[in-house]
Amino acid sequence: QYAAVKEVLAGRYAIGDTVTVRGWVRTRRDSKAGISFVNVHDGSCFDAVQAVAANDLANYSSEIQKLTTGCSVAVTGQVAESAGQGQDFELQATAIEVLGWVEDPDTYPMAPKRHSMEYLREYAHLRPRTNVAGAVTRVRHSLAQAVHRFFHEKGYFWISTPIITTSDAEGAGELFRVSTLDMMNLPRTDKGDIDYTQDFFGKEAFLTVSGQLNVEAFASSLSKVYTFGPTFRAENSNTSRHLAEFWMIEPELAFADLEDIASLAEDMLKYVFKAVLEERPDDMAFFAQRIDKEAITRLQHVVDNDFVHMDYTDAVEILQNCGKTFNYPVSWGVDLQSEHERYLAEEHVGAPVILKNYPRDIKAFYMRQNEDGKTVAAMDVLAPGIGEIIGGSAREERLDVLDDRLAEMNLPAEEYTWYRDLRRYGTVPHAGFGLGFERLVAYVTGMQNIRDVIPYPRSPKNADF
Ligand code: 4AD
Ligand code: MG
Repeated sequence: QYAAVKEVLAGRYAIGDTVTVRGWVRTRRDSKAGISFVNVHDGSCFDAVQAVAANDLANYSSEIQKLTTGCSVAVTGQVAESAGQGQDFELQATAIEVLGWVEDPDTYPMAPKRHSMEYLREYAHLRPRTNVAGAVTRVRHSLAQAVHRFFHEKGYFWISTPIITTSDAEGAGELFRVSTLDMMNLPRTDKGDIDYTQDFFGKEAFLTVSGQLNVEAFASSLSKVYTFGPTFRAENSNTSRHLAEFWMIEPELAFADLEDIASLAEDMLKYVFKAVLEERPDDMAFFAQRIDKEAITRLQHVVDNDFVHMDYTDAVEILQNCGKTFNYPVSWGVDLQSEHERYLAEEHVGAPVILKNYPRDIKAFYMRQNEDGKTVAAMDVLAPGIGEIIGGSAREERLDVLDDRLAEMNLPAEEYTWYRDLRRYGTVPHAGFGLGFERLVAYVTGMQNIRDVIPYPRSPKNADF
């Protein structure tokens, strides 16, 4: 009977039941009385289960006493009440089979001590074995599941938008180009002969920066839709909140305005925070203890309180009069920097804040112009510790206004033909937003660097593995 560590620790088995757990050794401790305590984790939950092995086991001195962190084992034993603190159950081992040794324990990169996050990034393939990566991975999973559940329950359809595309959805020019390579006829080592300038079957194509434009087409028919997938930005930023490859959740809602999606964003964040607090208490307790002592209280506060809304124009005034010196001075019309966003969320409000109605000149071409002619119906959700986690807007559904905007921004209308069609045939007011999934995971866990909340970070300095 194979059991997950989680099931044993949760009391799914009766005392005296014989079960086998399979996993990796976290620690081993030997007592003088000829008993070894081997802690085994399998990722199913934060904790490892303690296996108690006595020296009457056949391989006690030949193998069990040689187990080190990272060895893989199958432990068969009887479920017993645990005398130790922290856990109710342990296994009285009747057999420990070693599945895989750690070749050279002294050089095993994941020795049981505290490693820096930078160090762990160099071992992206072994990093999953650590407590912190395990906890991040489970929380990330729960958040993704909760996002899908939230939209499903509200009647949204999940649309898979393309990764290879010819449109620049943000019009910001931060694109990775895709080429077709005929690698088949080339030895892998002879890369000198590859023609890297070739396009995507004769056409210029890119990795998508956002699924928004594509999902707008589906909102113009299925009314309530969202996309959740990888997106790519060729911005050369080495910051703790930028990745070249990140996942984005983008709902798009027909017959909706800015206020509708502002409340959608609030409802969604509350829903997923509540879900993770309920589903991952152990992992969240770890984050609160080791990474950020407010990890849990912060989420609970968001769940329990209404979001503060603020106009960009008022935010500028607050920033100008707050008496703080910023690296970048603030005046009406500037794009807010992370230091400004963080001041507003962290110090001024003390919780996430929804900033609305930004100057049109700093925002994307598709955002709906307000009556004042100066601002657009845009919103960003700014979070303490991170800054922007969500960016969204009402969309410009009026073809003439959209065309003027494209021309003003020197974006060729031909490249947006199909997008313009949506305004030519049965256009409706609609709105949506994009939530950066890694920024969400960073906010929830309190992890300082976005590279540590994605399994394999891609940034100018991280592209191995
Ligand atoms: O503000 P952005 O660029 O908006 C869009 O892409 C819209 N098309 C979304 C929409 O309305 N459907 O990006 C949205 C979010 C940001 O708020 C941020 O959380 C995240 O995506 N993001 C990044 N996350 C990690 N690394 C990067 N380089 C990011 N760029 C944006
Ligand atoms: Mg943005």
